[in-house]
Amino acid sequence: MKIKSADFIISNTDVAKCPAEFIPEYAFIGRSNVGKSSLINMLMERKDLAKISGTPGKTQLINHFKINESWFLVDLPGYGYAKVSKKMRAGFQKFIEDYFKQRQNLVCTFVLIDCRHDPQKIDLEFMQFLGENQLPFCIIFTKADKLGSSKINKQITSYKKKLLQYWESLPQSFLTSSSTSLGRKEVLDFIENINIDVADNFK
Ligand code: GTP
Ligand code: MG
Repeated sequence: MKIKSADFIISNTDVAKCPAEFIPEYAFIGRSNVGKSSLINMLMERKDLAKISGTPGKTQLINHFKINESWFLVDLPGYGYAKVSKKMRAGFQKFIEDYFKQRQNLVCTFVLIDCRHDPQKIDLEFMQFLGENQLPFCIIFTKADKLGSSKINKQITSYKKKLLQYWESLPQSFLTSSSTSLGRKEVLDFIENINIDVADNFK
């Protein structure tokens, strides 16, 4: 897919205030610092469309971007960092949970995992939460430039093995690097194909 336009629309913490326009939406989520905002900039070939920081917790809001005047891309706050009350499941902020439960035009969520990390409870719980709410998701293994290819293969294979303890089949996955743009075409083509598949539902 060619990116012709990428426009920031609105930030907020209230799903009711997210854009009303009914067009396909794709959310990017994962632990704080995993590289969500960097990936969005890489995909859009824009340096600072989404705000980036080396300090975890940079993205605090639900950020909507409209791409090619036809679909929304959403940068979300990371989980596993913000101070939240204990009763809140797995440390997800309530407004993130509301976003996923209420956003009717959400067609696919990308769960980002740092390719250097072994499976972590909070990520597995988040995927569980998506599954329980019948929300389709993919996995994006990020920061591929930080490991050699044999180490990456080993990590990803063992990650998938762990997932198969919880899921009958594996979700689609991608390997990306925001430094080298690895995986850009694959992720954008995937989105383009879904946009075609769901077009009838958005008429
Ligand atoms: P929060 O908004 O705090 O949840 O973080 P985030 O997931 O949006 O991460 P962000 O994109 O802000 O990146 C966090 C740090 O990781 C920054 O210092 C980035 O430069 C670095 N980073 C992100 N992606 C990559 C990558 O693919 N390769 C390398 N080497 N560094 C990366
Ligand atoms: Mg961010």
